[in-house]
Amino acid sequence: MQLPHRAPALPPSEVPSKSKVVWEKFSHHSKFQRKLYHFGTFPQDFSWGVSSSAYQIEGGWDADGKGPSIWDVFTQTPGNTPADATGDVACDSYNRLDEDLYMLRALRVKSYRFSLSWSRIFPDGTRSSMNQKGVDYYNRLINGLLANKITPMVTIYHWDLPQALQDRGGWENVDMIDIFNDYCDFCFATFGDRVKLWMTINQPHSIAWLGYGLGTIPPSIKNPGISPYIVAHNLIKAHAKAYHTYDDKYRTSQGGLVSIALNADWIEPKDVNVLREVRAADRALQFQLGWFAHPIFKNGDYPDAMKWQVGNKSELQDLSESRLPSFTEEEKNYIKGTADMFCINHYTTKIASHVTGQLSPYSYEQDRDLSETEESDSPTTDIKNQRAVAWGLRRLLNWIKEEYGNPQIYIAENGVATKSSTMWDDSTRVFYYKTYIDEALKAYELDGVRVNGYIATSLMDSFEWLNGYKVGFGLHHVDFSNTNRPRTPKYSAHFYYYVIKDNGFPRPDDEKMLYGHFRKDFLWSTATASYQVLMLLCYKCFLMAPPIILMRLDSTTITD
Ligand code: NOJ
Repeated sequence: MQLPHRAPALPPSEVPSKSKVVWEKFSHHSKFQRKLYHFGTFPQDFSWGVSSSAYQIEGGWDADGKGPSIWDVFTQTPGNTPADATGDVACDSYNRLDEDLYMLRALRVKSYRFSLSWSRIFPDGTRSSMNQKGVDYYNRLINGLLANKITPMVTIYHWDLPQALQDRGGWENVDMIDIFNDYCDFCFATFGDRVKLWMTINQPHSIAWLGYGLGTIPPSIKNPGISPYIVAHNLIKAHAKAYHTYDDKYRTSQGGLVSIALNADWIEPKDVNVLREVRAADRALQFQLGWFAHPIFKNGDYPDAMKWQVGNKSELQDLSESRLPSFTEEEKNYIKGTADMFCINHYTTKIASHVTGQLSPYSYEQDRDLSETEESDSPTTDIKNQRAVAWGLRRLLNWIKEEYGNPQIYIAENGVATKSSTMWDDSTRVFYYKTYIDEALKAYELDGVRVNGYIATSLMDSFEWLNGYKVGFGLHHVDFSNTNRPRTPKYSAHFYYYVIKDNGFPRPDDEKMLYGHFRKDFLWSTATASYQVLMLLCYKCFLMAPPIILMRLDSTTITD
């Protein structure tokens, strides 16, 4: 049987994407090399920001006419979150807008990425139910930001689908494309005179896979081989339609930019010298990031690796057509190019290895023919499976550059969890930001990646989805046991303030004299023992010293 959607076989001897150069260039780096520190600064107009999302911070779950979202229903059902945590009150930002603005002003961020609660604006998901009080809240927020010279970056939909739309089938229902478009149209018309940076959907991969495949997040549908592909198909079309609406009706008068926030781990092959493992790493990236980025940023269609893998498995499963839906030529032309910049959420790195996936039950995960493990050399964090692997960010940015033709990139989310009891001393977060931002800097300065902005996740501790309030990503601590929800800056907030002020990590003036070159015929040598001592010393200082000292301790210079 020949399947209609099946792609031609990929030559077994090749890694299918151009982006293999990234593994060729970086994967042979020694452990020491990949930890080298780089001084430098970002471009003058670099956009430093922080993020939040509506359900995670707002509370006011039924205030002033807001309708329930799928997250309200999920968390209000006992047993779904640790200690039955809900977003009913969260950080109470619905009532504490001025406090949020105060923190943003104090950090001196250039931008604030937040999301709109769909069911606060349209309680039943559609325009006929428009709730003016919800609209007023966002007007106050946007105006407050602009009054403080902070650029609003608005995510239109960050997972909290109105329950009324879930009752109509949610994202498995093709009608959602028009319904979402109408909601976006309203947002552009209402806020677009002041909002110039839009992200339509946050992490469509999580919606499709976690929401409709694994079913770990709402709407909790466990149909791993079919639903994620249908949902992703609808999400991609919905995004494209909203983009065209902006183009057709608002771009000329408003002049903003529209994109979508995709997410990706960096994937290293288990053995970079084994072609099959490099192909597995590339497939992992294509199935996670390429699923959405390939249609939107490349050619309107899914990656060949996905078409081949899912088509092939479907054939072996005796299905009459691939479980991966296909786009018509007209749809491909419509989807291609529907983003003005590349927005990427990134947290960690995994190691991929080729494994032949099972045929039963049908599953997106098995379709990939690979397994993923943690990067065991890197420090663990307070969230399982999220090790801090800073060097992975540089590689991911380079992969995006190679794969999607050097787009302008916003790192739209990056950060680390600590236990919510951490009030002030979040030095692990300082270390995380310091090393990850430095890798973004290397990508920009050394590799020519067009990194335009960096958004630290998050402004403050908040409802952390399936982790409830056990951990927080915040630069500010929030006391959730106090009805006033007091916010306190952590060590990382101070650190980030200085990174923004310095626009990166410039080499301090008073130290420039320490850097230079020896005469041409200088005799370089090493002695094992002293080398080991230096290494140990450097590494210890790097981990232990406060940030200002950290910025000055450059292991490259010491050993060069
Ligand atoms: C990605 C989500 O977009 C964000 O809402 C969440 O806080 C972070 N992951 C951390 O889990």
